[in-house]
Amino acid sequence: MSKPVILTGLRANNDLHIGNYFGALLPLIDMAKKHAGKYQINLFVPDLHSFTTPVDHSKLYEQTMHNLKLFVAAGLPLDNPDVHLYRQSFISAHSELTLILNCFTGFGEMSRMTQFKDKSATLGDDRVSVGLFDYPVLMAADILLYSAEYVPVGDDQSQHIEITRDLGMRINNQFGELFTLPRTVKEQHKFFGKDQGLRIKDLVDPTKKMSKSDESGRGIVFLGDDPKAAAKKIMSATTDSLSSVNLDYKKQPGISNLLQIHALFSGESLETVAKHHKNKASYGDLKKEVAEEVEAFLADFQTKLKNVDESALMAKLETSENAMNEVANTTLAKVQKAVGLRG
Ligand code: ADP
Ligand code: TRP
Repeated sequence: MSKPVILTGLRANNDLHIGNYFGALLPLIDMAKKHAGKYQINLFVPDLHSFTTPVDHSKLYEQTMHNLKLFVAAGLPLDNPDVHLYRQSFISAHSELTLILNCFTGFGEMSRMTQFKDKSATLGDDRVSVGLFDYPVLMAADILLYSAEYVPVGDDQSQHIEITRDLGMRINNQFGELFTLPRTVKEQHKFFGKDQGLRIKDLVDPTKKMSKSDESGRGIVFLGDDPKAAAKKIMSATTDSLSSVNLDYKKQPGISNLLQIHALFSGESLETVAKHHKNKASYGDLKKEVAEEVEAFLADFQTKLKNVDESALMAKLETSENAMNEVANTTLAKVQKAVGLRG
């Protein structure tokens, strides 16, 4: 019996920031370490998804490779045979299955996807591509090709899991059991014990989440930031004039965010950190502690990144991409036969 598959993709459009690191990268690596053995873990960079919104194509390949290195620097075990690491576009079945699935997907149902509506609202009409519209179908192909049951994603992607189930079910009903469906979002949450709560906020505007879409970059700590410059960003983080440190996201969003970041870097609970600083009148100590932690973390992380064994990474990609091509092509062949493309 093959092992049940856990699968997820992390987009590589920009350098990642500490929100992505604590909110996505570390949980993924912990998950991979925890479940390898009983499960097969598929981690991939959805490079074809990268330019559903405009990107600098001259940097895309480099960015993809950089983000793969980030996985390794953050602790992804490359020597585990249950962990597969690959690039979407290196497995052509993703594109081929997408074209087939397209013809079983309604124009109306794609138009209702919240992410499409949100993203297209921020782009000019002529920049909204068919690729963006088709984003969820490609994502469905990513999942269905490998019979993935568990797909850890952020809340904003739940609708895409549901549409994957709908498409898979629709095709199974018409052609017989071709696809294993991913579990429902509710079951996924139960399986991963999902704590969707973590949202590091922007340092300049702590009412917003830290996000790479913030163009100034002043409120974001990127993993590639110069450690000293990142410490400065912390020192100039927006706070308030209440002169009392309290964990209160409504009244003191900036201070609460710093406490949260402090907790994540120190490995202590948020409660412990908040208690330690409670009611202190000066914000300087807290900022200094966090700035030092961020500086030390980045220096250490960047050393690890420099030391990533590139040949081991390339070897892993090659092994995984060969193995995944085989799995994906087997699923694709069944679908091609069912829809009448093969005899
Ligand atoms: P961004 O907003 O920077 O574009 P994405 O939407 O691409 O980030 O999210 C990539 C992953 O990182 C998702 O799993 C998301 O939940 C996580 N993530 C993004 N921003 C944060 C944040 N500020 N705090 C915690 N997790 C985050
Ligand atoms: N859409 C996901 C995101 O933006 C990335 C992604 C692409 C993905 N294909 C996937 C996640 C398949 C899980 C499974 O975060």
